Amino acid sequence: MNLKEIREIARQRMEGSCRLCRVCNGVVCAGETPGMGGVGSGAGFQNNVAALQRIRLNMRTLHDVMEPDLRVELFGLQLDFPVLAAPVAGMGLNFPAVGTEEDLARWAVVGAKMAGTLGMSGDGPDPTTFPSGLRAIQHVHGHGIPVVKPLPLQDLQPKIEQAEQAGCVALAMDIDAAGILMMRRAGYRVGPKTKAEIADIVASTKLPFILKGIMTADDAEKAVEAGVAGIVVSNHGGRILDHTPGTAEVLGEIAAAVQGRITVLMDGGIRSGFDVMKVLALGADAVLVGRPLTVAGFGNGEQGVCTQLLQFRDELERAMVLTGCRTLADVGPHVIRQA
Ligand SMILES: Cc1cc2nc3c(=O)[nH]c(=O)nc-3n(C[C@H](O)[C@H](O)[C@H](O)COP(=O)(O)O)c2cc1C
Repeated sequence: MNLKEIREIARQRMEGSCRLCRVCNGVVCAGETPGMGGVGSGAGFQNNVAALQRIRLNMRTLHDVMEPDLRVELFGLQLDFPVLAAPVAGMGLNFPAVGTEEDLARWAVVGAKMAGTLGMSGDGPDPTTFPSGLRAIQHVHGHGIPVVKPLPLQDLQPKIEQAEQAGCVALAMDIDAAGILMMRRAGYRVGPKTKAEIADIVASTKLPFILKGIMTADDAEKAVEAGVAGIVVSNHGGRILDHTPGTAEVLGEIAAAVQGRITVLMDGGIRSGFDVMKVLALGADAVLVGRPLTVAGFGNGEQGVCTQLLQFRDELERAMVLTGCRTLADVGPHVIRQA
Protein backbone atom coordinates (compact mmCIF):
# COMPACT_ATOMS: atom_id res chain seq x y z
CA MET A 1 0.00 0.00 0.00
CA ASN A 2 1.42 3.40 -0.89
CA LEU A 3 1.16 6.52 1.27
CA LYS A 4 -1.76 7.93 -0.69
CA GLU A 5 -3.76 4.74 -0.12
CA ILE A 6 -2.71 4.65 3.54
CA ARG A 7 -3.94 8.21 4.07
CA GLU A 8 -7.25 7.49 2.32
CA ILE A 9 -8.02 4.64 4.72
CA ALA A 10 -6.83 6.73 7.69
CA ARG A 11 -9.17 9.54 6.63
CA GLN A 12 -12.15 7.19 7.01
CA ARG A 13 -10.97 5.59 10.25
CA MET A 14 -10.07 8.91 11.88
CA GLU A 15 -13.29 10.71 11.02
CA GLY A 16 -14.16 13.00 13.92
CA SER A 17 -10.62 13.12 15.35
CA CYS A 18 -8.38 14.21 12.43
CA ARG A 19 -9.16 15.77 9.05
CA LEU A 20 -5.82 14.82 7.47
CA CYS A 21 -5.18 18.33 6.18
CA ARG A 22 -2.82 18.79 3.24
CA VAL A 23 -0.41 20.54 5.64
CA CYS A 24 -0.68 19.15 9.19
CA ASN A 25 -0.13 22.45 11.00
CA GLY A 26 -2.65 22.66 13.83
CA VAL A 27 -4.81 25.39 12.29
CA VAL A 28 -8.05 23.52 11.62
CA CYS A 29 -7.79 21.37 14.79
CA ALA A 30 -6.82 24.28 17.12
CA GLY A 31 -8.05 23.56 20.63
CA GLU A 32 -8.97 19.93 19.88
CA THR A 33 -7.48 18.15 22.87
CA PRO A 34 -8.56 15.39 23.33
CA GLY A 35 -8.07 14.74 19.65
CA MET A 36 -5.09 15.55 17.44
CA GLY A 37 -4.95 19.32 17.97
CA GLY A 38 -2.93 21.71 20.06
CA VAL A 39 -4.24 23.10 23.32
CA GLY A 40 -6.15 26.41 23.53
CA SER A 41 -5.45 28.68 20.57
CA GLY A 42 -3.32 25.95 18.96
CA ALA A 43 -0.36 28.37 18.84
CA GLY A 44 2.23 25.89 20.20
CA PHE A 45 1.44 23.33 17.49
CA GLN A 46 1.27 26.01 14.78
CA ASN A 47 4.54 27.59 15.93
CA ASN A 48 6.29 24.22 15.57
CA VAL A 49 5.34 23.94 11.91
CA ALA A 50 5.88 27.65 11.16
CA ALA A 51 9.38 27.64 12.73
CA LEU A 52 10.46 24.83 10.41
CA GLN A 53 8.85 26.48 7.41
CA ARG A 54 10.99 29.60 8.01
CA ILE A 55 14.19 27.57 7.55
CA ARG A 56 15.59 27.08 4.04
CA LEU A 57 18.04 24.45 2.82
CA ASN A 58 21.18 25.55 0.97
CA MET A 59 21.53 23.39 -2.15
CA ARG A 60 25.15 22.35 -2.80
CA THR A 61 25.89 20.08 -5.73
CA LEU A 62 29.60 20.51 -6.48
CA HIS A 63 30.97 17.57 -4.49
CA ASP A 64 31.23 13.77 -4.69
CA VAL A 65 28.61 12.66 -2.11
CA MET A 66 26.52 9.98 -3.84
CA GLU A 67 25.47 7.57 -1.11
CA PRO A 68 25.29 9.28 2.26
CA ASP A 69 25.44 7.31 5.49
CA LEU A 70 22.31 8.00 7.56
CA ARG A 71 23.16 5.73 10.48
CA VAL A 72 23.15 7.07 14.02
CA GLU A 73 24.04 5.56 17.39
CA LEU A 74 21.63 6.35 20.21
CA PHE A 75 21.73 4.93 23.74
CA GLY A 76 24.07 2.13 22.66
CA LEU A 77 21.93 1.13 19.67
CA GLN A 78 22.67 1.67 16.00
CA LEU A 79 19.71 2.91 13.94
CA ASP A 80 19.51 3.04 10.13
CA PHE A 81 18.39 6.67 10.18
CA PRO A 82 17.71 9.32 12.83
CA VAL A 83 13.90 9.42 12.88
CA LEU A 84 12.08 7.87 15.85
CA ALA A 85 8.36 7.28 16.41
CA ALA A 86 7.17 9.62 19.18
CA PRO A 87 4.96 8.31 22.00
CA VAL A 88 1.30 8.84 21.15
CA ALA A 89 -1.15 7.39 23.67
CA GLY A 90 -4.78 7.72 24.70
CA MET A 91 -6.70 5.73 22.07
CA GLY A 92 -9.99 5.86 24.00
CA LEU A 93 -9.56 9.54 24.83
CA ASN A 94 -8.25 10.95 21.56
CA PHE A 95 -9.69 8.53 18.99
CA PRO A 96 -12.91 7.05 20.42
CA ALA A 97 -14.17 3.71 19.12
CA VAL A 98 -11.34 2.97 16.71
CA GLY A 99 -8.88 0.51 18.23
CA THR A 100 -7.11 -0.53 21.39
CA GLU A 101 -4.40 1.24 23.34
CA GLU A 102 -2.03 -1.59 22.48
CA ASP A 103 -2.71 -1.09 18.74
CA LEU A 104 -1.61 2.54 18.98
CA ALA A 105 1.65 1.67 20.73
CA ARG A 106 2.33 -1.41 18.56
CA TRP A 107 1.96 0.53 15.30
CA ALA A 108 4.65 2.97 16.45
CA VAL A 109 7.07 0.60 18.16
CA VAL A 110 6.86 -2.36 15.77
CA GLY A 111 6.57 -0.12 12.67
CA ALA A 112 9.70 1.77 13.71
CA LYS A 113 11.63 -1.47 14.28
CA MET A 114 10.54 -2.72 10.83
CA ALA A 115 11.89 0.51 9.30
CA GLY A 116 15.26 0.10 11.05
CA THR A 117 14.74 2.63 13.77
CA LEU A 118 13.12 2.98 17.22
CA GLY A 119 9.69 3.80 18.66
CA MET A 120 8.31 5.02 21.96
CA SER A 121 5.14 4.30 23.93
CA GLY A 122 3.22 6.69 26.18
CA ASP A 123 1.33 6.85 29.44
CA GLY A 124 -1.86 8.51 30.63
CA PRO A 125 -4.65 8.72 33.21
CA ASP A 126 -6.00 5.31 32.18
CA PRO A 127 -3.97 2.71 34.17
CA THR A 128 -3.94 0.31 31.20
CA THR A 129 -1.97 2.78 29.02
CA PHE A 130 1.56 2.13 30.31
CA PRO A 131 1.24 -1.70 30.35
CA SER A 132 -0.23 -1.62 26.81
CA GLY A 133 2.83 0.29 25.59
CA LEU A 134 5.16 -2.05 27.40
CA ARG A 135 3.48 -5.09 25.81
CA ALA A 136 4.06 -3.50 22.39
CA ILE A 137 7.75 -3.09 23.26
CA GLN A 138 7.92 -6.69 24.46
CA HIS A 139 6.71 -7.78 20.98
CA VAL A 140 10.08 -6.58 19.70
CA HIS A 141 12.13 -7.85 22.66
CA GLY A 142 12.59 -4.51 24.37
CA HIS A 143 13.40 -2.52 21.23
CA GLY A 144 11.56 0.61 22.35
CA ILE A 145 11.42 3.40 24.91
CA PRO A 146 8.45 3.70 27.29
CA VAL A 147 7.61 7.16 28.59
CA VAL A 148 6.34 7.67 32.15
CA LYS A 149 4.51 10.67 33.59
CA PRO A 150 6.28 12.94 36.13
CA LEU A 151 5.05 11.14 39.25
CA PRO A 152 6.86 10.90 42.60
CA LEU A 153 9.67 8.33 42.52
CA GLN A 154 7.85 5.90 44.83
CA ASP A 155 4.88 5.81 42.40
CA LEU A 156 7.24 5.32 39.46
CA GLN A 157 9.23 2.46 40.98
CA PRO A 158 6.97 -0.39 39.68
CA LYS A 159 7.02 1.06 36.14
CA ILE A 160 10.80 1.45 36.23
CA GLU A 161 11.15 -2.20 37.26
CA GLN A 162 8.75 -3.35 34.52
CA ALA A 163 10.70 -1.36 31.90
CA GLU A 164 13.96 -2.92 33.09
CA GLN A 165 12.49 -6.43 33.06
CA ALA A 166 11.21 -5.86 29.50
CA GLY A 167 14.80 -5.03 28.48
CA CYS A 168 13.85 -1.60 27.11
CA VAL A 169 16.50 0.49 25.36
CA ALA A 170 15.94 3.44 27.72
CA LEU A 171 13.28 5.03 29.89
CA ALA A 172 11.84 8.50 29.30
CA MET A 173 9.64 10.92 31.24
CA ASP A 174 7.46 13.59 29.62
CA ILE A 175 8.22 16.18 32.27
CA ASP A 176 5.96 18.63 30.42
CA ALA A 177 2.97 16.60 31.64
CA ALA A 178 3.62 18.28 35.00
CA GLY A 179 0.50 20.40 34.66
CA ILE A 180 -1.98 17.95 33.14
CA LEU A 181 -5.13 18.61 35.18
CA MET A 182 -6.84 15.48 33.93
CA MET A 183 -4.15 13.35 35.56
CA ARG A 184 -4.28 15.30 38.82
CA ARG A 185 -8.08 14.98 38.93
CA ALA A 186 -7.71 11.24 38.37
CA GLY A 187 -5.59 11.17 41.55
CA TYR A 188 -2.09 11.06 40.01
CA ARG A 189 0.49 13.27 41.73
CA VAL A 190 2.08 14.63 38.52
CA GLY A 191 4.14 17.79 38.91
CA PRO A 192 7.39 19.60 38.13
CA LYS A 193 10.64 18.12 39.49
CA THR A 194 13.75 19.62 41.04
CA LYS A 195 17.24 18.78 39.79
CA ALA A 196 17.72 16.60 42.91
CA GLU A 197 14.51 14.66 42.20
CA ILE A 198 15.63 14.01 38.61
CA ALA A 199 19.03 12.87 39.89
CA ASP A 200 17.24 10.40 42.23
CA ILE A 201 15.30 8.94 39.30
CA VAL A 202 18.49 8.65 37.24
CA ALA A 203 20.15 6.81 40.17
CA SER A 204 17.15 4.49 40.62
CA THR A 205 17.50 2.76 37.24
CA LYS A 206 20.20 1.16 35.15
CA LEU A 207 18.40 2.26 31.98
CA PRO A 208 19.51 5.48 30.24
CA PHE A 209 17.02 8.14 31.37
CA ILE A 210 15.61 10.75 28.96
CA LEU A 211 13.69 13.93 29.80
CA LYS A 212 11.09 14.82 27.17
CA GLY A 213 9.66 18.34 27.16
CA ILE A 214 12.69 20.62 27.57
CA MET A 215 12.17 24.08 26.05
CA THR A 216 14.90 26.30 27.57
CA ALA A 217 18.70 26.21 27.76
CA ASP A 218 18.38 26.68 31.49
CA ASP A 219 16.32 23.50 31.98
CA ALA A 220 18.66 21.64 29.61
CA GLU A 221 21.65 22.59 31.78
CA LYS A 222 19.84 21.33 34.90
CA ALA A 223 18.99 18.08 33.11
CA VAL A 224 22.66 17.56 32.19
CA GLU A 225 23.72 18.26 35.78
CA ALA A 226 21.11 15.78 37.05
CA GLY A 227 22.79 13.08 34.96
CA VAL A 228 20.20 12.32 32.27
CA ALA A 229 21.35 10.48 29.14
CA GLY A 230 19.28 12.62 26.79
CA ILE A 231 16.61 15.27 26.38
CA VAL A 232 13.83 15.76 23.90
CA VAL A 233 13.32 19.40 22.99
CA SER A 234 9.54 19.27 22.80
CA ASN A 235 6.36 21.18 23.64
CA HIS A 236 4.35 17.93 23.45
CA GLY A 237 3.15 18.86 19.99
CA GLY A 238 1.66 22.07 21.44
CA ARG A 239 -0.73 20.09 23.61
CA ILE A 240 0.30 21.25 27.08
CA LEU A 241 0.99 25.01 27.42
CA ASP A 242 -0.57 27.41 24.94
CA HIS A 243 1.75 29.97 23.27
CA THR A 244 5.02 28.05 23.56
CA PRO A 245 7.56 28.87 20.84
CA GLY A 246 8.14 26.44 18.00
CA THR A 247 10.72 23.82 19.04
CA ALA A 248 12.97 24.74 16.08
CA GLU A 249 13.09 28.30 17.49
CA VAL A 250 14.70 27.15 20.75
CA LEU A 251 16.69 24.08 19.65
CA GLY A 252 19.79 26.05 18.58
CA GLU A 253 20.32 27.71 21.96
CA ILE A 254 19.61 24.46 23.81
CA ALA A 255 22.07 22.45 21.68
CA ALA A 256 24.67 25.19 22.23
CA ALA A 257 24.18 24.95 26.01
CA VAL A 258 24.40 21.14 26.03
CA GLN A 259 27.61 21.12 23.95
CA GLY A 260 27.36 17.45 23.05
CA ARG A 261 27.44 16.24 26.67
CA ILE A 262 24.19 14.27 26.24
CA THR A 263 21.94 13.19 23.38
CA VAL A 264 19.64 15.93 22.08
CA LEU A 265 16.43 14.91 20.31
CA MET A 266 13.67 17.22 19.05
CA ASP A 267 10.05 16.87 17.98
CA GLY A 268 7.16 19.04 16.87
CA GLY A 269 5.92 19.80 13.37
CA ILE A 270 8.40 17.59 11.48
CA ARG A 271 6.57 16.61 8.31
CA SER A 272 9.29 15.36 5.93
CA GLY A 273 12.88 14.21 5.71
CA PHE A 274 13.72 17.76 4.59
CA ASP A 275 12.45 19.01 7.95
CA VAL A 276 14.60 16.34 9.62
CA MET A 277 17.63 17.80 7.82
CA LYS A 278 16.84 21.28 9.22
CA VAL A 279 16.54 19.95 12.76
CA LEU A 280 19.84 18.07 12.53
CA ALA A 281 21.47 21.25 11.18
CA LEU A 282 20.20 23.12 14.27
CA GLY A 283 22.04 20.66 16.49
CA ALA A 284 19.81 17.65 17.23
CA ASP A 285 21.21 14.12 17.10
CA ALA A 286 17.88 12.68 15.93
CA VAL A 287 14.18 13.56 15.79
CA LEU A 288 10.81 12.18 16.88
CA VAL A 289 7.71 12.31 14.70
CA GLY A 290 4.20 12.15 16.17
CA ARG A 291 1.02 12.86 14.20
CA PRO A 292 2.12 11.79 10.68
CA LEU A 293 3.05 8.34 12.00
CA THR A 294 -0.18 8.03 13.97
CA VAL A 295 -2.11 8.78 10.79
CA ALA A 296 -0.05 6.15 8.93
CA GLY A 297 -0.81 3.68 11.72
CA PHE A 298 -4.54 4.24 11.38
CA GLY A 299 -4.15 3.70 7.62
CA ASN A 300 -2.15 0.47 7.69
CA GLY A 301 -0.97 -0.40 11.20
CA GLU A 302 2.73 -1.06 11.78
CA GLN A 303 3.26 -1.46 8.02
CA GLY A 304 1.82 2.04 7.50
CA VAL A 305 4.20 3.49 10.09
CA CYS A 306 7.10 1.69 8.44
CA THR A 307 6.14 3.03 4.99
CA GLN A 308 5.88 6.60 6.31
CA LEU A 309 9.22 6.34 8.13
CA LEU A 310 10.94 5.03 5.00
CA GLN A 311 9.62 8.07 3.15
CA PHE A 312 11.28 10.30 5.77
CA ARG A 313 14.47 8.28 5.30
CA ASP A 314 14.43 8.66 1.51
CA GLU A 315 13.81 12.41 1.73
CA LEU A 316 16.62 12.83 4.25
CA GLU A 317 18.96 10.88 1.99
CA ARG A 318 18.04 13.15 -0.95
CA ALA A 319 18.59 16.23 1.22
CA MET A 320 22.04 14.98 2.24
CA VAL A 321 23.08 14.39 -1.36
CA LEU A 322 21.78 17.82 -2.39
CA THR A 323 23.57 19.61 0.46
CA GLY A 324 26.80 17.63 0.21
CA CYS A 325 26.68 15.78 3.55
CA ARG A 326 28.32 12.34 3.58
CA THR A 327 27.42 11.49 7.20
CA LEU A 328 25.14 12.99 9.84
CA ALA A 329 28.23 14.55 11.42
CA ASP A 330 28.59 16.67 8.25
CA VAL A 331 25.12 18.19 8.71
CA GLY A 332 25.65 21.61 10.27
CA PRO A 333 24.49 25.23 10.24
CA HIS A 334 26.06 25.71 6.79
CA VAL A 335 23.20 23.73 5.15
CA ILE A 336 20.43 26.07 6.37
CA ARG A 337 19.42 29.70 6.30
CA GLN A 338 16.58 31.49 8.11
CA ALA A 339 14.02 33.23 5.93
C1 LIG B 1 -2.85 12.23 20.33
C2 LIG B 1 -1.50 12.47 20.95
C3 LIG B 1 -1.15 11.75 22.10
C4 LIG B 1 0.11 11.95 22.68
N1 LIG B 1 0.47 11.21 23.79
C5 LIG B 1 1.69 11.39 24.35
C6 LIG B 1 2.10 10.63 25.50
O1 LIG B 1 1.38 9.78 26.02
N2 LIG B 1 3.34 10.86 26.01
C7 LIG B 1 4.18 11.79 25.46
O2 LIG B 1 5.30 11.97 25.96
N3 LIG B 1 3.83 12.52 24.38
C8 LIG B 1 2.61 12.34 23.81
N4 LIG B 1 2.26 13.08 22.71
C9 LIG B 1 3.22 14.05 22.14
C10 LIG B 1 4.13 13.38 21.11
O3 LIG B 1 4.97 12.43 21.69
C11 LIG B 1 5.04 14.41 20.41
O4 LIG B 1 5.75 15.15 21.36
C12 LIG B 1 4.29 15.34 19.46
O5 LIG B 1 3.17 14.72 18.88
C13 LIG B 1 5.26 15.83 18.38
O6 LIG B 1 4.67 16.71 17.50
P1 LIG B 1 4.10 16.26 16.04
O7 LIG B 1 2.87 15.44 16.32
O8 LIG B 1 3.78 17.57 15.40
O9 LIG B 1 5.18 15.48 15.34
C14 LIG B 1 1.02 12.88 22.11
C15 LIG B 1 0.66 13.57 20.93
C16 LIG B 1 -0.57 13.36 20.35
C17 LIG B 1 -0.92 14.09 19.07
